[in-house]
Amino acid sequence: MSALPSNAFTEHVGKHPGEPNLMDPALISDPFAGYGALREQGPVVRGRFLDDSPVWFVTRFEEVREVLRDQRFLNNPVSSALGAAPEDTPMSRLMDMMGFPEHLRVYLLGSILNNDAPDHTRLRRLVSRAFTARKITGLRPRVAQIADELLARLPEHAEDGVVDLIQHFAYPLPITVICELVGIPEEDRPQWRAWGADLVSLQPDRLSRSFPAMIDHIHELIGARRRALTDDLLSELIRTHDDDGSRLSDVEMVTMVLTVVLAGHETTAHLIGNGTAALLTHPDQLRLLKDDPALLPRAVHELMRWCGPVHMTQLRYAAEDVELAGVRIRQGDAVQLILVSANRDPRHYADPDRLDLTRHPAGHAENHVGFGHGAHYCLGATLAKQEGEVALGALFRRFPDLSLAVAPDALERTPVPGSWRLNALPLRLR
Ligand code: HEM
Repeated sequence: MSALPSNAFTEHVGKHPGEPNLMDPALISDPFAGYGALREQGPVVRGRFLDDSPVWFVTRFEEVREVLRDQRFLNNPVSSALGAAPEDTPMSRLMDMMGFPEHLRVYLLGSILNNDAPDHTRLRRLVSRAFTARKITGLRPRVAQIADELLARLPEHAEDGVVDLIQHFAYPLPITVICELVGIPEEDRPQWRAWGADLVSLQPDRLSRSFPAMIDHIHELIGARRRALTDDLLSELIRTHDDDGSRLSDVEMVTMVLTVVLAGHETTAHLIGNGTAALLTHPDQLRLLKDDPALLPRAVHELMRWCGPVHMTQLRYAAEDVELAGVRIRQGDAVQLILVSANRDPRHYADPDRLDLTRHPAGHAENHVGFGHGAHYCLGATLAKQEGEVALGALFRRFPDLSLAVAPDALERTPVPGSWRLNALPLRLR
């Protein structure tokens, strides 16, 4: 694990003994053990958010799913049911800490993830029309083609026989797929990759530089597409409307594109990276997959459970007093669903720390919360799973002798809370 950069987020660590803070180095460096210990302490544990405000961590599988299904928990703290002042929410304090320009906050606050019914339902309905399952499954041959092209060039990137899979495959594949789907020109894609890295870095200076540039860029793309519609997602978002004729506003469209492009590559890249590292460090499981490629969909379910890249959801807020697993959560309290501990909950899985690609039954039933659950269940889950299957299948087919070029414990991860991402994955192709 790289050193944790000290910044506005780290200064509160340790201020409240007994109340874990998301920035605690132990939780960041080993979230499986750290949040696992909290899970065994209880299903609902008092902790601290990044701005030091109190938060309830929900740590067990059943309780996590219960909250995500429960309409008394809201994503938007300034909704009328809660009535928090816009400047008095963890999200707004976070934006203050990051020096976020006031006039751009509307783009974050208007995101699909920050809205509840009926606004959320409307946004989700409109974007789902542009993002149909048929369209996504129809992309599979193109995803396979992009994967094959990238893999064919992988040996060219090797230095002393070693190539970084994150740099040359895990990122380029999903970023190419999502940019093609959305309609972002090829020459702009490296810039998006850099913006994505800035956003997840949690470094205030990088964030406040990149965010305005992204917003401007999307406004320009939408303007250009309005003059010449095609069949990409940008055009679909411009065309799409409800039965009553209502359309996405410009701000909603920009926010949607931003969310889809960032969520569409930053996460999937690390499903591919983490998944590859997990298979290479579990040769018995890799053998099973090589012997039976039909195992791939189940393998991806299990990799999502065991080393999925997203470790927690956005905050939820109780719209009224709620009793959860015997704990009184008061109206307005913030709740953080800890997916990483739910996915290893021994109450739900036998031998949960063991990677077992045959654990999930055949078919497509998903038995983990790596993509969330309920109304905000990941909009891109079908695409992400498809990319994971294509990427891992093609990688091990083309390079059957692939191996780690460093010891597993020398692999470095980005020290940010909530996600599990490798900085690099150095591999020997044969
Ligand atoms: C929501 C994880 C890939 C777009 C979510 C949520 C999770 C998640 C956990 C729910 C967050 C919450 O409830 O607070 C992942 C993982 C991915 C992935 C682990 C890859 C392995 C993608 C892709 C796209 C995408 C490829 C777009 C193409 C979205 C959007 C939402 C979302 C738009 C918000 C949905 C809503 O609020 O209704 N994702 N995601 N994600 N994801 Fe993904």
